[in-house]
Amino acid sequence: MKSFTELKSYQALHKHFQEISNAHMREMFRFQKNRHKRFSLEIDDLFFDYSKNRICSETIDKLCALADESNLKRKIESMFNGERINSTEQRSVLHTALRLSKDTKLQIENIDINSQIQETLDKMAYLCQKIHTKTLRGYRGNVFTDVVNIGIGGSDLGPKFVVESLSGFHETNLNFHFVSNVDPIQIQELLSKLNPKTTIFIIASKTFSTLETMTNAKAAKDWFLAQAQEKRFMKNHFFAVSTNREAVIQFGINPNNTFTFWDWVGGRYSLWSSIGLSIALAVGMKNFKALHAGARAMDEHFRHMPWRQNIPVIMGLLGIWYQNFFNTSAHAILPYCHRLTQLPNYLQQLDMESNGKSVDLNGTVVNYTTGSVLWGGQGINGQHAFFQLLHQGTQLIPADFIACANSETSNNKEHQIQLASLIGQTEALMKGRNKEETQQTVQATKTSNGENDDNIQHMVFDGNRPSNTIILKSLTPKSLGMLIAMYEHKTFVQGAIWNINSFDQFGVELGKKVTNQALSLFENVDTHSKKQHSH
Ligand code: F6P
Repeated sequence: MKSFTELKSYQALHKHFQEISNAHMREMFRFQKNRHKRFSLEIDDLFFDYSKNRICSETIDKLCALADESNLKRKIESMFNGERINSTEQRSVLHTALRLSKDTKLQIENIDINSQIQETLDKMAYLCQKIHTKTLRGYRGNVFTDVVNIGIGGSDLGPKFVVESLSGFHETNLNFHFVSNVDPIQIQELLSKLNPKTTIFIIASKTFSTLETMTNAKAAKDWFLAQAQEKRFMKNHFFAVSTNREAVIQFGINPNNTFTFWDWVGGRYSLWSSIGLSIALAVGMKNFKALHAGARAMDEHFRHMPWRQNIPVIMGLLGIWYQNFFNTSAHAILPYCHRLTQLPNYLQQLDMESNGKSVDLNGTVVNYTTGSVLWGGQGINGQHAFFQLLHQGTQLIPADFIACANSETSNNKEHQIQLASLIGQTEALMKGRNKEETQQTVQATKTSNGENDDNIQHMVFDGNRPSNTIILKSLTPKSLGMLIAMYEHKTFVQGAIWNINSFDQFGVELGKKVTNQALSLFENVDTHSKKQHSH
């Protein structure tokens, strides 16, 4: 297969870019009365408006041609069919299998994958039922009050994001805590507020060898045993989620308390698996399966819709349009929904650990840019923090604005301010305010806050700054599942077109190796100073 920049469709896009790159979106909206309609898509309760992008119909046609020439359709089928597309680790990529409906058969290399998945879901349901009905209690018979998930990366970000986003759907009075940082202050501060008799620990780690997680897990175990004294009491309080059964037993957790998953589940794609145990404990299995159902609906959409009607494909192609033709290097995720505060953090690992690669599937160093810097924060707060740069900075930073049409509260006024802010900001980014309009504004509102003639140029907004608007009708387990799966598939589309492996992460290994070398230096110093003190 030709390299990305040698593709005919890439060349055609490059030529098209030279023709269209200076066109202003405000003119596009002026001449195309139904532009909003032409460049928006909908699936169930999720609405995607991509009209505020620097595109015309021809752009989308040429981007779809790029998808075709990149064999995107075949690559999508390869993933869903369990081919070992994670070629460097010789693994399948089957997070989509985790959310199959119960009765769907999936046979991969003679293994009935869905039976294993359903068995694990049943085991999760059983634990949830025992805890929710207070049948399972602490070692002194106390009802549980707190759940502590100890994990990092995909074993933390997904569960934390979803438990927080679905706070309106919690079916228990349990308090949920997420410990990931190895800075002892995090776990010590938390444990100082908890009661070992009423606390559940979930040690979530695919490898069960991650330094930070195992360090925190030992601290939790020591804290628990200092009070409980006897290891046998751990069976009421410690649960493990891992693929590494031996290491779990070595740590001292009962195999019956271990929830497994498989090497074809990438850490950053694992919240749908037993890594989502804290989610199921928080919202119950019915809502956990509704989360799955939302993702499944997006899977079907992604797998079967033609590119022009395919939301993750359009999102991925737009990202490539800015990254590889406008030479942008960042992408902002701006939720206008307080419950989705953790979304940018979650998507950072999903996107940047997947596509932060510089070697293609043939082992060749690429001569084009790949994964962008994905960042973001709550939109409303961002308006008082980094929006200055988005509006008047020298860099073009495409942004996704995400909101819910319906608020979970009856405070419509505040919710309307939130939605109006999203609309206003995306409109201002798109339209800008030229010099003449600025002068008229200054004339009309002669005020003392710096709006005088000398400052006119400082107050011009060039606009033409692109954004996508994603609206969920309401924030529910189903719509959240759709949103997350949409971004998983956007990430897939970009990796497929850049012809990189989005599913390994060798880039995290060197830092860990050097950390261990540095750690041994500290240990040597400790040993040396102990010797000195003992003389
Ligand atoms: O070091 C990166 C990483 O491997 C992520 O890919 C993963 O989600 C995280 O560390 C935690 O890994 P584990 O679940 O094996 O503890």
